[in-house]
Amino acid sequence: MPLFQTLAELQQARKAQTGQLCGLVPTMGALHQGHLALIKQALKENQCVWVSIFINPTQFNKQSDLSSYPSNLAEDIKAIHLVDPSICIFAPAITEMYPQEVISASFLFNGLDCVMEGADRPGHFQGVITIVSKLLEAVKPDNAYFGEKDFQQLQIIKNWSKKAGIATKIYGCPIVRESHGLAMSSRNKLLSSEARKEAGFIYKALIACKNTENKTSLNANIKKIFAEHPTFKLHYCVCLEEETLTELEEFQTATSPRLFIAATVEGVRLIDNIALK
Ligand code: PAF
Repeated sequence: MPLFQTLAELQQARKAQTGQLCGLVPTMGALHQGHLALIKQALKENQCVWVSIFINPTQFNKQSDLSSYPSNLAEDIKAIHLVDPSICIFAPAITEMYPQEVISASFLFNGLDCVMEGADRPGHFQGVITIVSKLLEAVKPDNAYFGEKDFQQLQIIKNWSKKAGIATKIYGCPIVRESHGLAMSSRNKLLSSEARKEAGFIYKALIACKNTENKTSLNANIKKIFAEHPTFKLHYCVCLEEETLTELEEFQTATSPRLFIAATVEGVRLIDNIALK
């Protein structure tokens, strides 16, 4: 399986792929079925596919979150190989991506970062776009694939890439869930089996809200459901227009309302969302 660790190696390999439609799936490793779904989508739509595996330090606003982030490159390589052994993997060292200081560049996001993860995790999206811009610049893919679990990240990447005139098309792919509903995430590996099982209630709560006639009481409904799961701390539950991530004037007239949730259990942050129309 082609494994590349330096930008020079990557660029040489990309030269050999000239003329081939190229798809990139950026990841931080600890791959799960959600990542594999992105990779399979990329394989369908491109002639060559790259998966980057890099735990990006600048997008972590807490050192403890960074140091506990799961990582197993050998397992990731095996999982990718099983999907398709021709996939190119880029797994650089920190010094390759941050040769000088390990700091974020500065970006403006038109307010898209002022809510939810951006508000709770200062600097997070500056770090995300810093690494995504470096990866897009290095691979120069035609298409790049991101999961809708990180919906705010997806909208920020789309908005930023459009403004920056990036030629790569950005695609969002549906959330992949564990059998009991929990949105797949590398962080799920950090949960005890009890908490992981119980966390399935978050998706059930989102579904219940989607099916509720009276959308004015969504917040109260969610709070009530969380009160039945006291080990889960709810950070936010907000219903926003999915394009702009702004508050809805009124549910009936909203174009694409989406409900977003973030909660913590056993120190692990879980996020999820659902389209309401
Ligand atoms: O979604 C992720 O795994 C990361 O935020 C990304 C896009 C790979 C950037 O590090």
